[in-house]
Amino acid sequence: MFKIGNIKIESPLFLAPMAGVTDHPFRVICKRFGAGMVYTEFVSADGIIRENEKTLNMIKFSDEERPIGVQIFGDDPEVISKSAKYIYDNFKPDLIDINYGCPVPKVTKKGAGSAALKDLCIMEDITAAVIDAVPQIPITVKMRVGWDSENIVSTKAGILLEKLGVKAIALHGRTSTQLYKGKANWDYIKELKEAVNIPVIGNGDVLNYADFNNMREYTKCDAVMIGRGALGNPWIFRNIIDEIFSEDYKINNLDTVKKTCIEHIKLLIENKAEKVSVGLSKKHLSWYLKGFKNSSIYRKEIMYCENVNDIIKILKNI
Ligand SMILES: Cc1cc2nc3c(=O)[nH]c(=O)nc-3n(C[C@H](O)[C@H](O)[C@H](O)COP(=O)(O)O)c2cc1C
Repeated sequence: MFKIGNIKIESPLFLAPMAGVTDHPFRVICKRFGAGMVYTEFVSADGIIRENEKTLNMIKFSDEERPIGVQIFGDDPEVISKSAKYIYDNFKPDLIDINYGCPVPKVTKKGAGSAALKDLCIMEDITAAVIDAVPQIPITVKMRVGWDSENIVSTKAGILLEKLGVKAIALHGRTSTQLYKGKANWDYIKELKEAVNIPVIGNGDVLNYADFNNMREYTKCDAVMIGRGALGNPWIFRNIIDEIFSEDYKINNLDTVKKTCIEHIKLLIENKAEKVSVGLSKKHLSWYLKGFKNSSIYRKEIMYCENVNDIIKILKNI
């Protein structure tokens, strides 16, 4: 167990924020399988202060998900700090996380996300403004190692962020221009951990217990954040915990997968419109069913469904 600010973290396994994926239903499922910390998808600071309904809906969470972080992105210190205060006043998450890692041009061309890695003064202004606006809860940061391989800044930025009062840093071991290509470089996670006293959360290419263990042993990071390894595989958290504690909680069988899919779909219907739930069910089920016998046939059938009951019927028949 360790702490981020005053927040107790029971499990060193974090679900990575993922746009279009880590909504309330998926976070609940991952939490039930042992994720120690979950985050919302990244939300736009502009959207929050304009009180855009879709943006505000992305922030809603239940107590079952705690501890939870709301992740924000923006380029203007005033707007992003106002949005942070709005989030604190209206939603009371356990922490607010600032995104300095998004490589998508739509975000970076305006100076948000990983664009801040190109100019640490911007990062300093944004971070200081958010910490000043919300002194009540920890402010954390998730970033990449630098804009490109010629400009690695993670350790320098980490030292600066700690001085400003950031309470934890999640580091994805890739540059922004790398997108998802190549391998995440864990050397920078290790270097950051040696340079700062706040918790460091390692991220990048952890798909199973062996990866988790290697990352922790090598970098000495306080926790490991898992993104793509949890797609269609929320029990990755439980499986790793079982290995740590030598428990035997067999999950990867078809019955658990079907049960989890149905639980996931029910959470979607409870929280979203039918059309949106159908679309998201199809997306998640294509991940959940990967690798099972005849899965391509079932996935195809599911793709033609127009309502969730038909999807559930197909699932039950598998
Ligand atoms: C579909 C998708 C959406 C993502 N959205 C976000 C996001 O909203 N905020 C963020 O900080 N990172 C986002 N990421 C990056 C992940 O949080 C994580 O850093 C990255 O996938 C590397 O970890 P992994 O190798 O465990 O997947 C996203 C990644 C994926 C695949």
